[in-house]
Amino acid sequence: MSDRWWRESVFYQVYPLSFKDHDGNGYGDLKGIESKLDYLVWLGVDAVWLSPVYQSPMADWGYDVSDHTDIDRLFGDMGDFDSFLESAHERGLKILMDLVLNHTSDQHPWFVESRSSQDNPKRDWYVWESGEKDHPPNNWVSVFSGPAWSWDDTTGQWYRHTYLPVQPDLNWRNPDVVEAMMGVIRFWLDRGVDGFRVDAAHQIMKDPANRDNPPTPPGFVDPYKEMGEYGRWIHLRDLGHADVHEIHRQVRKITEEYERGIVTVGEIHEFDPARWLAYFGSGDELTMPFNYNLMVSDWTASSVRAAVETVEALLPEWAWTNWTMGNHDEVRIASRLGDSSARQAAVLLTTLRGTPFLYYGDEVGMLNGSNQGRDPWGDNVAFLSRDGCRTPMQWDGSKLVGFGESKPWIPIGPEPGKRNVEVQRDDPESLLTLYRNLLAIRKKRVSLQLGDYQTLESPHEDVLIYLRSIDGESTTVAINFGEEAVQLNRLGDPVITVGGYEPYDGLVFLGPGAVVIWDSTAYGLPHPLSSSS
Ligand code: NOJ
Repeated sequence: MSDRWWRESVFYQVYPLSFKDHDGNGYGDLKGIESKLDYLVWLGVDAVWLSPVYQSPMADWGYDVSDHTDIDRLFGDMGDFDSFLESAHERGLKILMDLVLNHTSDQHPWFVESRSSQDNPKRDWYVWESGEKDHPPNNWVSVFSGPAWSWDDTTGQWYRHTYLPVQPDLNWRNPDVVEAMMGVIRFWLDRGVDGFRVDAAHQIMKDPANRDNPPTPPGFVDPYKEMGEYGRWIHLRDLGHADVHEIHRQVRKITEEYERGIVTVGEIHEFDPARWLAYFGSGDELTMPFNYNLMVSDWTASSVRAAVETVEALLPEWAWTNWTMGNHDEVRIASRLGDSSARQAAVLLTTLRGTPFLYYGDEVGMLNGSNQGRDPWGDNVAFLSRDGCRTPMQWDGSKLVGFGESKPWIPIGPEPGKRNVEVQRDDPESLLTLYRNLLAIRKKRVSLQLGDYQTLESPHEDVLIYLRSIDGESTTVAINFGEEAVQLNRLGDPVITVGGYEPYDGLVFLGPGAVVIWDSTAYGLPHPLSSSS
């Protein structure tokens, strides 16, 4: 594999709390994940992103880190981690840790010291402001709603927190903080990990003067519009300050010292194309910012086409993107779109130009749970509560879905009897089989891994057709988003079909919701398409 192995790879996010409970305490753990590595290999995955497993009070399920260089006892210990990493590497799987840069837990020794007195040497490791107890220093709100500032009675100052009050923001303008966090990065790279998913990567640098955010004017289409109070402000000053790029450059310098193709994938909720692109730097910042365009797109041929073409048009020749439709913060694909569209999503994710990122359980069509878990958003913004997509991985249809021996930390999701690995494994029609076949096809077809992307003009507004080609190999994908069967010119020999597909002379009928992937290599350049239906 090349040192840009991540371009040819398929990534899979494991949410450790919910994947497999080995020790029987109701929480997933590292030994549990290790016991399922063969499943990931069977599925055809190449790399795993592990949500945080560091020591944490778990107020935000591990995104509140209290020791960056130790494993939380819920998940095991460092010995378990090393064994997990070794087993993964033996199987050819790469491992990405989750790197939480913006904040720590308030239980982190750094913050415990910092809040102990105004003249503590670690005071300036976090962001403290003077002021009056009833007036936060500015109008910034936490992503989880409420002011982004909490008053500390002991030392009579405000501290800033982009997320929960128990997640104080680190002060990245303090060189000691930068050095300490770079030490954390080295720690994990020295241990052998292959990269990082960088949490809140656009939020670590904010306006140094802490100036107010402007409110959203009437008619403004806010990308955060669904986020309650957070969506009422234009986030001009509390994310994406220009200084953030210097931090990512420093991270990149360290990762490149390791000379084994370390990858960084940044969580960038930035919907302005130029600002999103800026996180690549000139190839000297994040390897890839997360590309959420498909995740937020309407499910129509024209919207999906626009989402794809926007990214395609934006990327310079040297840059490489990814595609994702689910993670631990989002409503599950099958709940959002329904089962038929979830199949189309599987095809898009694995055939577009860019690295696919899959979320555990989406391959069996897991649905959102009834959100009885604990969640910082709680009932305030019900539709945003996130624990519903974090239910136990459904390995089989038994009472505890094969997750473990005791009651899991969160109730099992809906319809486990049909949405599980065991029942779908040998079913040729299942979503799991489709994912497995798609991953195998992607592995075999260099055009799907690395080929150029071109949208082909479609004779039907509900049908998206695109061509991937490289080095004389071509693959064409046609997806019918509509509710009517359509007639198309045949553009290749079918490699895989989903739903109704009927060839007839040089034509094919593609049923409602159906998909075909053609090997078009022998067909030369795309034929003009039929415009009749
Ligand atoms: C983004 C993570 O994906 C989310 O789960 C977490 O709550 C926040 N960052 C804070 O770390």
